[in-house]
Amino acid sequence: MPTAQSILTHSPDLAVIEAVTTPVESEVVVVGIAADAGSGEGGGTKAAPVVVAPGLDGDSTAALADLAHSVGASTKVGSTTRVPAPAGVPGRSVVLVGLGSSDDEVGDETLRRAAGAAARACRGLGAALVLLDPGRAEAVALGAALGSFRPAKVTAKDDGDDEKADSVKVLVAEGGEDAVTRAATIAECVSLARDLVNTPPNLLFPGSFADRAADLAAGAGLEVEVLDESALAEGGFGGILAVGGGSSRGPRLVRLTHRGAEGRPTVALVGKGVTFDTGGISIKPAAGMEQMTMDMGGAAAVVATVILAARLGLDLTVVATVPMAENMPSSTAYRPGDVLTMYGGTTVEVQNTDAEGRLILADAIVRACEDSPSHLIDTATLTGAQMVALGKKTPGVMGTEDFRDRVAGLSREVGEGGWPMPLPEELRDGLDSEVADLTNVTPHRWGGMLSAGLFLSEFVAEGVEWVHIDVAGPAYNDGGAEGYLPKGGTGVPVRTMLAALEDIASAG
Ligand code: BES
Ligand code: MN
Ligand code: ZN
Repeated sequence: MPTAQSILTHSPDLAVIEAVTTPVESEVVVVGIAADAGSGEGGGTKAAPVVVAPGLDGDSTAALADLAHSVGASTKVGSTTRVPAPAGVPGRSVVLVGLGSSDDEVGDETLRRAAGAAARACRGLGAALVLLDPGRAEAVALGAALGSFRPAKVTAKDDGDDEKADSVKVLVAEGGEDAVTRAATIAECVSLARDLVNTPPNLLFPGSFADRAADLAAGAGLEVEVLDESALAEGGFGGILAVGGGSSRGPRLVRLTHRGAEGRPTVALVGKGVTFDTGGISIKPAAGMEQMTMDMGGAAAVVATVILAARLGLDLTVVATVPMAENMPSSTAYRPGDVLTMYGGTTVEVQNTDAEGRLILADAIVRACEDSPSHLIDTATLTGAQMVALGKKTPGVMGTEDFRDRVAGLSREVGEGGWPMPLPEELRDGLDSEVADLTNVTPHRWGGMLSAGLFLSEFVAEGVEWVHIDVAGPAYNDGGAEGYLPKGGTGVPVRTMLAALEDIASAG
């Protein structure tokens, strides 16, 4: 486990994922079980489940079915049951993982969740072998890798428990090795986002976050630019300066570029990096305020995604523009009633200092549009209203309609669940100010996620295809680990943004 000194530089605790084309001897073997829908079980006795164990012979598969039946192993997707390995199975024990009903098609998301839950159940048991669906190596490997992630803990001294999680071998069909390598790379970057979110706010503040992002990006071959507080003042970034002004730890604007070939599309990514959100002078209640350490989840995802674009060698230009600030109340804090001049000149009346995310994003969006991107994706833990509207696991996706629908669809394909939401014209009036071009909040609470989206839309340049992804709930899991989702930072929406980048790259 990392110490306070090392936590900002440690790498995510993830299993090493490898591809194998035949089952190899391992400590623990993962097989799937599905409820036998065809058995027409009447009379109360449940039939033995269908065992999905590619690579094993009929006798050991039948023995596993008997074992699963006799211990009453659950076939619910992601349920795990550990049993001793019967003869013919190349391991000491077996983790049976539920795949649902044998009637239902096992989709990629089911495979990812099952593999993720299984990898979690295998942690600490030694090398694991996953036998699920060799034809869908990426889904299985990605689920296993993401599920093996363990949130870091800050400890007094290094306790020697610093080793990586155990290795996980995934059975693939001939030629499936590249899919596993790709899955491992994606999982590493998702885990980077999780790790950044999980880093406590005394350790991760604008300066240290910017340094860490810059180091990682430079290491991946990206171009890096960091504006500190005086550069922000010089540039006129009124939103970032105001929000960051209450903290002794000044704000930053980080710009990371993955350069594609000449003539390829440019996509801008923008992520909210509020390293702690007290609400500022419009202070939040104490209960639950500690969760506001995750208010940089959008920034973490954007940093991870641009690095991922470079590591996968995507053939387009991706420019991440990441504003970082700590929203604190103090004698230097901005106030309700202040009128800010944002980057680009728009003026904003501050009515509530707790609606700070949209202020730093507005500056960053205007800056990002100066690169003339064809598309702009911004993401933020922006509104409590996102969770009221959609719950804790469904990102709200707003923006220009075609691109919005495309990104929301891709988000559901990758299992991040984004849902398209409107930007209703009638809410726009609520952002009119008597003393400035705009106010940062509406006078009512209706459609809070949507009015935040409308506020941002005012800063997006004409002609840019734009989406805004509100991940207030989805960026952080305050419940238990489940499937491939750990407690704490989830890394959402890294995989949605990756899918969007790949879609744009293949179209343009
Ligand atoms: N960071 C919060 C939104 C948030 C709330 C994220 C809960 C995750 C969990 C954001 O800065 C905020 O405070 N939003 C206000 C906006 C309001 C003042 C218009 C909110 O949602 O209450
Ligand atoms: Mn706030
Ligand atoms: Zn916030």
